[in-house]
Amino acid sequence: MKEKIRHKLIKPDSASLINRTEESEEDIVLNISLRPRRLQEFIGQKDIVENLKVCLTAAKQRKEPLEHILLSGPPGLGKTSLAHIIAYEMNAKITATSGPAIERAGDLIGILTNLDKADILFIDEIHRLSKVVEEFLYPAMENFQIDFVIDKGPYAKTIKFNLKPFTLIGATTRSGLLAAPLRNRFGIFYNFDFYQVEDLAKIIKHSCKILGLNIDEEAALEIARRSRGTPRIANRLLRRVRDYAQVLGINRINFEVAAKSLDELGIDNAGLDELDRKVLKTIIEIYGGGPVGVEALAASLNEEIDTIADTIEPYLLKAGYLKRTSRGRMATKLAFTHFNLRSKNQAELF
Ligand SMILES: Nc1ncnc2c1ncn2[C@@H]1O[C@H](COP(=O)(O)OP(=O)(O)O)[C@@H](O)[C@H]1O
Ligand SMILES: [Mg+2]
Repeated sequence: MKEKIRHKLIKPDSASLINRTEESEEDIVLNISLRPRRLQEFIGQKDIVENLKVCLTAAKQRKEPLEHILLSGPPGLGKTSLAHIIAYEMNAKITATSGPAIERAGDLIGILTNLDKADILFIDEIHRLSKVVEEFLYPAMENFQIDFVIDKGPYAKTIKFNLKPFTLIGATTRSGLLAAPLRNRFGIFYNFDFYQVEDLAKIIKHSCKILGLNIDEEAALEIARRSRGTPRIANRLLRRVRDYAQVLGINRINFEVAAKSLDELGIDNAGLDELDRKVLKTIIEIYGGGPVGVEALAASLNEEIDTIADTIEPYLLKAGYLKRTSRGRMATKLAFTHFNLRSKNQAELF
């Protein structure tokens, strides 16, 4: 029995369960079915929701499209969900694309000229738009105009084309990488923060309802505590716990089942996974606790810089395991105690 569970639950890439942004097909389907559709179903991020309600009401009263909105924050916190919710609440059509998908200016022109009044254009990973495409976006955002250049050389002519007023919603994991002219053309900025454990527990219980699962309050809280403050991870872990309970023939997910299956997945009590621990251990063991630059860290770990900067670091910073200094990243006292280690230079470090 035990063997069977291990086989089912422990995958060689269990670290990727949490940190990577690529999703399996099953995860994608699950994500869509668990995605909140209306603002009322969107749990947590109170400040954003309150402010958005005001903006939505005001825009509807004026019968105008919303201002352009920039959503920023680490992956899995609900940016894409909120973009679709905004379209739903505005009763607007949404066209969704992403920075890397728009390869040429022509692609963008095609999308823009197809928009109707008050439609929403959602560009995910907007920091990855190419420079050329980005420059086409400036007049489109500002005056709802695009400039076509016809012919080349001495016969070149610029023709202005009027677009219908639309709302651009951009999402980015790194607002710091956005060029200032692009950033300045947004009127509304929402920065997503990691979720409170209580909010994640609510999300988990809501997902259980949709999936037809029974769960104890303590089990929901335990999964929530180990979800790195991220709803997408909470839902993913819930699914793994569900598998575990199913194999054991347990109808109701209780604390023991939740805790045990998360342990087996390599997610520790603090909610850190293998990759988190690898990052912290590398800083502690190879770089003596830091400071170390992200490039050197990525090289030592054989990971992409983006993976570290976008998905691993933000949570470790937020949870207090890492701190950023002008000389690089440093492991904090909390990180050392997590591994039962004492820093050699505690006086210097803290
Ligand atoms: N506020 C929320 N309330 C309920 N579920 C949420 C919330 N935010 C995110 N989720 C869940 O997490 C999943 C990932 O969210 P998503 O919008 O794709 O994140 P992002 O675009 O920021 O990476 C969604 O499919 C949904 O199931
Ligand atoms: Mg998204």
